[in-house]
Amino acid sequence: MSHGEVDAGRLHALAVDIAREAGELAKLRRSVGVALAATKSTLADIVTEADREVEDLIRTRLAAERPGDAFLGEESGGSAGDTGVTWVVDPIDGTVNYAYGMPAYSVSIAAVHGSVHPDEWEPLAAAVSAPALGELFSAVRGGGAWQGARPLRVTTDIRAGALLATGFGYDPSTHDGDLATVRTVMPIARDLRRGGSAALDLAYVAAGRLDGYFERGLNPWDFAAGALLVQEAGGRVSRLDTASPRPMLIAGGDEVHDRLRAILA
Ligand code: IPD
Repeated sequence: MSHGEVDAGRLHALAVDIAREAGELAKLRRSVGVALAATKSTLADIVTEADREVEDLIRTRLAAERPGDAFLGEESGGSAGDTGVTWVVDPIDGTVNYAYGMPAYSVSIAAVHGSVHPDEWEPLAAAVSAPALGELFSAVRGGGAWQGARPLRVTTDIRAGALLATGFGYDPSTHDGDLATVRTVMPIARDLRRGGSAALDLAYVAAGRLDGYFERGLNPWDFAAGALLVQEAGGRVSRLDTASPRPMLIAGGDEVHDRLRAILA
């Protein structure tokens, strides 16, 4: 599990440790109430004080333990490094769930190697913590994916149709198009979920709780960790339309992945 000088196993242990601590902080802050800090791309695209505080904790711990690594975070942006490793972080994925008091939110931390571009980087380690659900999912490249100590495996039998999940961006002008996409996919679905945290949706695909997932317009921090979970659980992840402003991400076991790709490509 060594990539040049990089030991993916150690990155995994660190990602898990920090995701657990960051998740506990997010949960604690949620228990005393959520303060809206700002809106971003649209009025619906919110950031809470907790998003910022949790990202701060993650960034500070990484800087202390891996000072030479680069960082790319949803709230505080990027900084360069000199080790070839970049930490791609969403401090609270599912911020709207978090703000409304729904438990499906997660802390998502990935370590990637090489490029900082999702189509070129090599994911090495991932942790997705869902503190309000008491679950932590993790993966190491070439080593597997787990929920706690339990190995994860994607589903393979979709004879009854695929249980799919998707998400919609925060820009209301894209909703019609995304709903039209849903219509094209429903013929292969047994049902559709919209969970509200892309990282958790991908963790659920890895865990076999969903058969597949698709969404347009995700940011790298939304899927960096979850994509490695799916791949290490035996599934596949692809990005389509990468030249468009809202590329499509699809994930699932071989059959679901290929059927989604045939419909959505
Ligand atoms: C969002 C969630 C949501 C997805 C959105 C993302 P955020 O991330 O992952 O499920 O549908 O596209 O932006 O803003 O809560 O970190």
